[in-house]
Amino acid sequence: MPCGRFGGRIVLVTGAAKGIGAATARAFASEGATVVLCDIDEAALKVTVDALPGTGHCGIRLDVTSEADWIAAMGEVERAFGKLDVLVNNAGWGELRSLFDTSFEQWRRVIAINLDSVFLGTRNSMPLLEKSGKGSIVNMSSIRSLVAGVGSGPYSAAKAGVHLLTKATAIECAAAGKPVRANSIHPGFVDTPLSKQTGEEARNARRSTVPQGRLAEPEEIAAGILFLASDAASYVNGTELVVDGGFTAV
Ligand SMILES: NC(=O)c1ccc[n+]([C@@H]2O[C@H](COP(=O)([O-])OP(=O)(O)OC[C@H]3O[C@@H](n4cnc5c(N)ncnc54)[C@H](O)[C@@H]3O)[C@@H](O)[C@H]2O)c1
Repeated sequence: MPCGRFGGRIVLVTGAAKGIGAATARAFASEGATVVLCDIDEAALKVTVDALPGTGHCGIRLDVTSEADWIAAMGEVERAFGKLDVLVNNAGWGELRSLFDTSFEQWRRVIAINLDSVFLGTRNSMPLLEKSGKGSIVNMSSIRSLVAGVGSGPYSAAKAGVHLLTKATAIECAAAGKPVRANSIHPGFVDTPLSKQTGEEARNARRSTVPQGRLAEPEEIAAGILFLASDAASYVNGTELVVDGGFTAV
């Protein structure tokens, strides 16, 4: 008898070796899911997989910008489990840089990791999500899809693309009779290896702009992702969940 909110469910999380992805994988595993963790950092991925509660979890090397990697990963999931219940398109990356100092190559890298990844993941996982009978996609966007920030031009454009691609996914699934919901999550500033890149001074400056006066813990974002993926959200579709300590309420 499956137990926990996600007992018997197969969940795939990208960018799962560290940060929000790792916290999300842990949260799903602790609620009974079998989790497929995907990342390009194989050493960190192994550490995260080995530390998960429960059994049956696995790590797959998947570069989210590579369609060949997506096809191979979906083949592995099909052979091992025959279905996919939840896809969390979490992997992403950005850096602070003026729009006017951004090369076309740098622009394309940010768009590829944050936006192409979601398109590739959505398209290639759809047959397995349909087999779930109640599939759910949670896409990682950001407050940067709602409000711009100086130095975040390509990242904001990519995350805004994720925002509307999620709505398009939801309505196209419904129109085609596919039993798959799609929603996006929009974190504010989260305490992860990615946000540590900017240095302590920038992190303190960020804290002072958040009404709750602190950065989020990755687990607080994971909690929102689990809600969107859960049966409690069975009528929540094509929408966005902002988890930002009040940042965009000001
Ligand atoms: N940290 C924040 O403040 C914040 C805020 C809003 C949104 N986000 C978004 O949340 C997501 C996770 O961010 P995080 O802060 O946990 O980052 P992180 O850098 O701590 O972790 C990201 C993980 O993704 C992996 N990754 C990077 N490129 C990849 C690729 N091409 N294929 C597969 N895996 C890849 C990394 O190896 C790493 O394990 C990202 O999409 C990010 O844009 C983060």
